[in-house]
Amino acid sequence: MKKKNIFVKLTALVLVVMATQISYAQDVAKNIEKDVAEGKKIYQQNCVFCHQADAIGKPGFAPSLSNEELLSIASDDFLYRTIFNGRIGTSMIPFKHLGGKKIYQIIGYLRSLTTKPNRSKEVEAQHDSHGDARLGKIWFEDICATCHGVKGDGYLSGSTGTAIGNKNFLKVVSDGFLRETIKHGRSNTRMLSFSGPTGLANLSDGEIEDIIAYIRTFY
Ligand code: HEC
Ligand code: HEC
Repeated sequence: MKKKNIFVKLTALVLVVMATQISYAQDVAKNIEKDVAEGKKIYQQNCVFCHQADAIGKPGFAPSLSNEELLSIASDDFLYRTIFNGRIGTSMIPFKHLGGKKIYQIIGYLRSLTTKPNRSKEVEAQHDSHGDARLGKIWFEDICATCHGVKGDGYLSGSTGTAIGNKNFLKVVSDGFLRETIKHGRSNTRMLSFSGPTGLANLSDGEIEDIIAYIRTFY
């Protein structure tokens, strides 16, 4: 009799725990949905002027934030710190005043604009470049400076590429992120792929490492 009682109580407990888990999962799903809607609202109020509707960007003015290659390699930490601290010296001003919760809601909204899997963990864990900055300088000035400026100051130099020599960018970006961007480019923007026969220039892996090493000398 006693044993049966315990059994009934245990079964009841398990059922309660399972029910709580199901409703917890439903709550999380609802919250994410709510956060995306909330994030979109905050985006419309603060970011749409520069980054445009659906975050598609505008060449020479503000980069696309819905770009699938960007979102697949950018970690939440990269996006958070970029939004929080801005990129001093560019029109990407800091948005600290929004506070952490709202910034994460914007990130949730941006992530909802892509279906490509987020591989930022693997990208950030890639090795650092051991390239030769002196060789990288030649490539950079030959190929990249046209769009990013000789010192990597981006739009300020009157071109369409972003400020890849900017201190706030280089502080938060990993060599893996730089490597993936140079190799694969960003679809529907002027940042094309720079490796392989279909690339804008068929750079070898070693040459890409040299360019990364050179970019690191900016800050
Ligand atoms: C006044 C224009 C302006 C506004 C408003 C603005 N941005 Fe930007 N944003 C820029 C520019 C310009 C850049 C590129 C800076 C550079 O040259 O590196 C940028 C870059 C970024 C990047 C880095 C993208 C990349 O490709 O690495 C993120 C993320 C970003 N902005 C998010 C936001 C969010 C979120 C908001 C709203 C809270 C916002 N921005 C508001 C102009 C703006
Ligand atoms: C034809 C112009 C063009 C050339 C040449 C070019 N880029 Fe870009 N690059 C861009 C644009 C435009 C973007 C931002 C995409 C956007 O506007 O959404 C970008 C983005 C990047 C980013 C990401 C920066 C960020 O803010 O997140 C890196 C890194 C980069 N380029 C490196 C390079 C390197 C290295 C070279 C030379 C091998 C190069 N690019 C050549 C136009 C160019």
